[in-house]
Amino acid sequence: MSASDNHKNVYVLNQTNQLKGLFTIIRDRTKPRVSIYLDAELSSDTYSGNDYAVNDTIIRLIVEEGLNHLPVSPAQVTTAQNVKFDGVVFDGRICGVSIMRAGESMEQGLRDCCRSVRIGKILIQRDEESQEPVLHYKKLPEDIADRYVLLLDPMLATGGSAMCAMDVLIGMGCKQEQIIFLNVIASPEGLYNVHQRFPKIRIVTAVVDEGLDSKGYITPGLGDFGDIYFGTKA
Ligand code: PRP
Ligand code: URA
Repeated sequence: MSASDNHKNVYVLNQTNQLKGLFTIIRDRTKPRVSIYLDAELSSDTYSGNDYAVNDTIIRLIVEEGLNHLPVSPAQVTTAQNVKFDGVVFDGRICGVSIMRAGESMEQGLRDCCRSVRIGKILIQRDEESQEPVLHYKKLPEDIADRYVLLLDPMLATGGSAMCAMDVLIGMGCKQEQIIFLNVIASPEGLYNVHQRFPKIRIVTAVVDEGLDSKGYITPGLGDFGDIYFGTKA
């Protein structure tokens, strides 16, 4: 994991062959939808195809990196060997907030790491013509201003939806420093826009792609994440 060369507070997962292999599967348009959702039709001979849902594996890596950005305090325990071990405990409380629909695909990965985590929801849909985000609904923990917020959305294209969600969180009293945006694929434009407006919000992403097409879709990207994940387009 390294901070992006361009922006402080932007962290990109190390581009290991494991990660590239997972992205090769979920970006492949010839693979059935099941490759992003389940693993059933992938080769059982391969690491990525047997026991892991590909998308969930990527999200798990992102969530675990996001958790590394939470503050900790020193804590000492005594092991069964009767020897002291200097460890840490997490400070403060967290919650997740998913940007619906696509952000809901990341909730399980967060729950896998933090079983009883509270999860709020913000429904934002991008207008396909104007590419502008429209806020439809929000339901968030009442004490969200006292928590670290892991904001979930797999796609960061123009950045409009993410910034709309961040405005909601800031309006609820959250400070930028409390918000960690967890993302699967980012465009350079989206990163730039979010970072310019909210320089203290940390962004953890698995990969930064080349750019946006004329419709504001990420290239090479993988298409419409929500439609693929929920199966709403043939
Ligand atoms: C997608 C995606 C982001 C947004 C990214 O959601 O999940 O929320 O677009 O684009 P932006 O950075 O240009 O705002 P969409 O509005 O398509 O809804 P969906 O989750 O229902 O697919
Ligand atoms: N939303 C998506 O799902 N994909 C993109 O490339 C852009 C916005």
